[in-house]
Amino acid sequence: MITIHRAKVEDVYEIKKLLFNTWTATYSNIYSPEAIELITSRWHSVVLLTKQIKNPSLFFSVAKDGNKIVGMCNATLTQGGKVINIQRLHIIPEYQRRGIGSKLIEEVIKTFPKALKIELEVEKQNERALTFYQKQGFQRIGKKTFEIASVHMTCVVMEKLV
Ligand SMILES: CC(C)(COP(=O)(O)OP(=O)(O)OC[C@H]1O[C@@H](n2cnc3c(N)ncnc32)[C@H](O)[C@@H]1OP(=O)(O)O)[C@@H](O)C(=O)NCCC(=O)NCCS
Repeated sequence: MITIHRAKVEDVYEIKKLLFNTWTATYSNIYSPEAIELITSRWHSVVLLTKQIKNPSLFFSVAKDGNKIVGMCNATLTQGGKVINIQRLHIIPEYQRRGIGSKLIEEVIKTFPKALKIELEVEKQNERALTFYQKQGFQRIGKKTFEIASVHMTCVVMEKLV
């Protein structure tokens, strides 16, 4: 059975591994292995992830199958508590299409009951995630570009009223 929990500091290495594996599976057709290595080493360092797990204003959740972490999500409130921002949502490849991503989003909405909407950004070539969010009721509202470690990223900004 899949259960949802707040991440604990001792989960950090399993989360880091999950992020590297899902990033590789998702983005290897979009970015070079060197770019994935560089981005994940910066964004998913043990120091940064530990700080985020300890941050009480960040909802850092994990989906577990027994003791195994099979998915994770980060969300926080912005704009004076009116808007939920989802920063990460990753399910390990062999557990995708089992309703876990939908379940993690439901839990985020329950955690921030006063929010009026959810916002997030998706890499513009990540078609599967764009389809998933559209099925969840998100709409495209714009685009954003980033430069990280000399890698140019274009993201679609999406939102959903809750
Ligand atoms: C995108 C992601 C979070 C979706 O989570 P998930 O647990 O696989 O999705 P769910 O099982 O809850 O899917 C709900 C519905 O979304 C749609 N959907 C989900 N994944 C899809 C895919 N790969 N292709 C087409 N539709 C998809 C389907 O309609 C699905 O319902 P169905 O399986 O009954 O048809 C997950 O696939 C993932 O982690 N991908 C890699 C990382 C990533 O891209 N994260 C998002 C970055 S912003």
